[in-house]
Amino acid sequence: MPKDAWKRIESHELKPLTALFAQEPDRLGRLSTTVAGIYFDWSKTHLDESLLDAFAALSDEKGFAAEREKLFAGEIINVTEGRAAGHLAERGSGAPDAVELASTRRRRMRALVDAIEAGAFGDVSGILHIGIGGSVLGPHLLVDALADEGLRLDVSFLSNIDGQAFEDAVAVLDPGTTLVVAASKTFTTAETMANLDAAIGWLRESGVGDPYGRVVAVTADPDAAVEAGIDESRILVFSESVGGRYSLWSSVSVSAALALGWDAFEELLEGAAEMDRHFRYSPGQENVVLMAAFADLTYTQNLHCQTRGVFPYEERLRMLVSYLQQLEMESNGKSVTAEGKPVGRPTAPVVWGGVGTDAQHAVFQLLHQGTVTVPVEFLAVAEGGSQLPAHHRQLLLNAFAQGAALMRGRESDDPHRRESGNRPSAAILLDRLDPRRLGSLIAFYEHRTFAKAVLLGIDPFDQFGVELGKQIARDLAEGEGENDLDPSTRALMEKSGL
Ligand code: F6P
Repeated sequence: MPKDAWKRIESHELKPLTALFAQEPDRLGRLSTTVAGIYFDWSKTHLDESLLDAFAALSDEKGFAAEREKLFAGEIINVTEGRAAGHLAERGSGAPDAVELASTRRRRMRALVDAIEAGAFGDVSGILHIGIGGSVLGPHLLVDALADEGLRLDVSFLSNIDGQAFEDAVAVLDPGTTLVVAASKTFTTAETMANLDAAIGWLRESGVGDPYGRVVAVTADPDAAVEAGIDESRILVFSESVGGRYSLWSSVSVSAALALGWDAFEELLEGAAEMDRHFRYSPGQENVVLMAAFADLTYTQNLHCQTRGVFPYEERLRMLVSYLQQLEMESNGKSVTAEGKPVGRPTAPVVWGGVGTDAQHAVFQLLHQGTVTVPVEFLAVAEGGSQLPAHHRQLLLNAFAQGAALMRGRESDDPHRRESGNRPSAAILLDRLDPRRLGSLIAFYEHRTFAKAVLLGIDPFDQFGVELGKQIARDLAEGEGENDLDPSTRALMEKSGL
């Protein structure tokens, strides 16, 4: 057997799932666990004892434990940008000085939330939250997922630079009682700046005397927010080391904290911290984050799967796929190692998915009989959020039936009806959906992304790939760079009258 751990993993013969269950009497016990009220079942993946050994060897080869300590100790692990990854400090799990700074800033955020609730901004019935990517997906996920705990305010989220999106977002708000939250780490992002301008115009035209006085800015660059006209007293600052897609633990979630209440926000942070402890201290085979990361890498490296499907059977988690797409694809969609060498193996797969059972009636045909293997992840919540328990029972039964069918397959003399089975899936079952569980769940995904990056040797905290397209758009907006365009792009501009 080859010594190099990657070679062991790549050449490992994956045994049929049903055979693994037959051969390993305690398979379910070893590949499932409950952490923070969330049951994780990875037994319907192709992980087996020898593969787990190979991944343990890979973790040693890559110095995984030391890298994880660097993350928690606030050392510079975002090497390409020369920064720590500060999101852990936002939930009290990072280096003591960073935790201290984050909690000082959180106290300011709380003071502002309290002041708004106490009427310092007059009557506030709604929030227009403006931001894009990491500056909106997190708070949007929180508000959507936890709305049934009772929303104190309406929140309308606006991200796209599309006038239609702006009009839709403000249509549900009363300008006289709306507060605008402009969230942008850099406070230069074109979409957010244009939408902020439009929101100021909307307030002004609706008769609001001091529109800028209705804006709260959230940013890592307070000077840029001051320059944009926002008074310092209404600027919430978070640390430069907190990546946009990791920023929902910071004041970026001020809209969610206002809508859901401060206690809910604190519970979210506590839930994340609980998962942090699990990830940091649980030994290899009991560590649910590593188990998931190892299975993910099995499918990308051994079976060359180019996608992973995520299907929450839970309407309240409908934003999760979009959130995870940014988290995983922006973090690990890289081609070179942290040192800038070709990574030489597949990195992040495309993450896609949808809400069950809707997705089941649209895309699952391919999952069951298509020519590609898609590792699938089912999420469900044992305690339903609605007043229709019979619906919830059907929802859960469908989620579980799909996983069983993918694994079992179906014999038939008719090739059209035959299903190969042996198709992998994982299941995540929350006992209930509350801020604490949601915090743990999101932190699980963050750490899983980090673990894969360490094993692949890439930097998950930069995103240089997003720059070129933005630059070209900026140049064109300023009337430059047209001559450098290819004929196809130039024709598109001409045909749309630009
Ligand atoms: O273009 C990608 C990106 O830089 C993301 O990483 C980020 O979350 C998003 O844009 C928004 O950036 P900002 O918070 O600076 O407006």
